[in-house]
Amino acid sequence: MKLGTIFLALALVLITVVSLAGFRGDHFSKPPFEIFPDMNYQDKVKDQVPSAFFADGAASRAPIPGTVAIEMPAQNDYWATGKWDGVNWGDGIPVHEARDNRTALQADAANMARGRERYTISCEACHGAVGDGKGIVSKYGLNGIASYQTDRLRNMSDGEIFNTITNGKGQMIGLGYNISVDDRWRIIMYIRALQLSQNATLQDASPDEQALLNKSSKP
Ligand code: HEC
Repeated sequence: MKLGTIFLALALVLITVVSLAGFRGDHFSKPPFEIFPDMNYQDKVKDQVPSAFFADGAASRAPIPGTVAIEMPAQNDYWATGKWDGVNWGDGIPVHEARDNRTALQADAANMARGRERYTISCEACHGAVGDGKGIVSKYGLNGIASYQTDRLRNMSDGEIFNTITNGKGQMIGLGYNISVDDRWRIIMYIRALQLSQNATLQDASPDEQALLNKSSKP
């Protein structure tokens, strides 16, 4: 093939491509010729346009009566963010003054039981029943699940754990959308109990319990 022919062929290809695709996005008086319509045409409801889907013309259904709004974290609210000053993680399970008639959080049996229940539902599949990161999911190939039974996690502030539950961390997705703020704190309460359960000394037991343990360990 002659060089001239190749040049001519290339020029033709170039002109074709530019004329078909090159003017996309420019202003035309007529609808543009579309090779790939991409997502230009979609079934959707636009602002201020009634929907043909529902009889009342609204695009979506109103929340059913009694629907409770998701708590929106306010800045500088330790209870809602885990940060005591908007910057640094705080420590402690916040005793929250009855907001919307919710009772204050105390580290009592009822809150601990609720924390355990929520932990079992939301965390145990990955983190395991004793929090060692060896939940059932780890047996099916999810690697790198954090164990709470490490010094790093034992020393981690409550606020940082709260944030991990809320927003996730690394491989772990945030679960805040699905767990109420108070339940997140109850789960942390239970995690601290799990940590103690795997790392306790005889001195952590009450004198009565110590006497019992000493007796039962005698031959
Ligand atoms: C789908 C599995 C899965 C679930 C469910 C899950 N986690 Fe995790 N979690 C992980 C993985 C994986 C990591 C390690 C993340 C990383 O380091 O990339 C992790 C890490 C963590 C850490 C340590 C974060 C850090 O700073 O290193 C904490 C604390 C934690 N998870 C708490 C929870 C709590 C509490 C729940 C339940 C409310 C929960 N996780 C539910 C998989 C899970």
